[in-house]
Amino acid sequence: MTNLFEHGALGDIQVKNRIFMAPLTRNRAHGDGTPHEMAIKYYTQRAGAGLIVTEGAQISPMGQGYINTPGIYNEKQRDAWTKITRSVQANGGKMVVQLWHVGRISHTSLLPGGAQPVAPSAIQATADTFTENGVENASLPKALDIQGIKEVIADYVHAARTAIDAGFDGVEVHAANGYLLNQFISAHTNQREDEYGGSPENRARLFLEVVDAVSAEIGAGRVGARVSPTGKFNDFADPDAAENYGYIYDELERRNLAYLHVVESFPGHPVSKSEEKLLSNLRRNFSGNYIANGNYDSAAASQAIADGAFAVSFGRPYIANPDLTDRLRDNSKLNEVDEATLYGGDEKGYSDYPTQDETYLRALAEVL
Ligand code: PHB
Repeated sequence: MTNLFEHGALGDIQVKNRIFMAPLTRNRAHGDGTPHEMAIKYYTQRAGAGLIVTEGAQISPMGQGYINTPGIYNEKQRDAWTKITRSVQANGGKMVVQLWHVGRISHTSLLPGGAQPVAPSAIQATADTFTENGVENASLPKALDIQGIKEVIADYVHAARTAIDAGFDGVEVHAANGYLLNQFISAHTNQREDEYGGSPENRARLFLEVVDAVSAEIGAGRVGARVSPTGKFNDFADPDAAENYGYIYDELERRNLAYLHVVESFPGHPVSKSEEKLLSNLRRNFSGNYIANGNYDSAAASQAIADGAFAVSFGRPYIANPDLTDRLRDNSKLNEVDEATLYGGDEKGYSDYPTQDETYLRALAEVL
């Protein structure tokens, strides 16, 4: 399994290994979207990853869909993130921030002035959001007009600039899991009749315009993108996935981004044989840096890299195992995730999972 531990160049980002931390929503930011102080410890504990992709960070107040998620659009947020990136980098880690706009997966109570969420078309999702009142269904969205689309692109650029100012090594454009850019890509959620709907090229337009605008601002070698061609999370479907993503992968390949991060499977949504085939066909035709994600163990990760992936990202294993790289290297047992502390709360289930050395010392202390 030595291939997991090779360093390499991910665009302009030098990484020390191929074990990445996937983006994970933890809902522990302050109410105004400022990352919490305890996130410094949480992320620093995980600096052994070749790359940390942060939890989704909304690019604007309208991009938020859950309570207590961090933002990456103002100075206060920038300054809090700066403490996190400095600490991770001082401990040998690299870190990109995931740029997030949830689109229709939001609730009026989370948005400025009780605004309606925005989306490609006014089609309500049957999907959960988390608000002051707990779990609530997503509100009916309104369709973005062309001016609104231009503002969204400008918000991505502003967020990317804020990220670089905060010391991040790059950004990841989140176009997966049924959020705004994904909503544009699929005819399931996009019924527009203008240049942003009606064909694979038109539906991919906003995503690619965002990628291009962000790349122009910070350099393509610091920009990654995340997609989920077979995703069903958030009341999602894509009847034209082969065509849509055939086009998207080709376009991304030409842009020489740092990487393409693919959600190959998602908790609670098993992948069928035909979906597996679709993902592998798409991947075979992509020669850029591919990051595989979803339900990998170390043997499968090693195999994925032998088959040409640049890296594999781990989500849940990284929640419970801050020293995941050490554990994979030593072939040690993994801690289990505590479901009750995944979303919201304090340090419990966040920055208090023990490393293997701590577990060993605690056990030793008990017998002495
Ligand atoms: C979640 O909060 O459950 C969540 C957020 C972003 C994702 C996927 C899941 O991409």
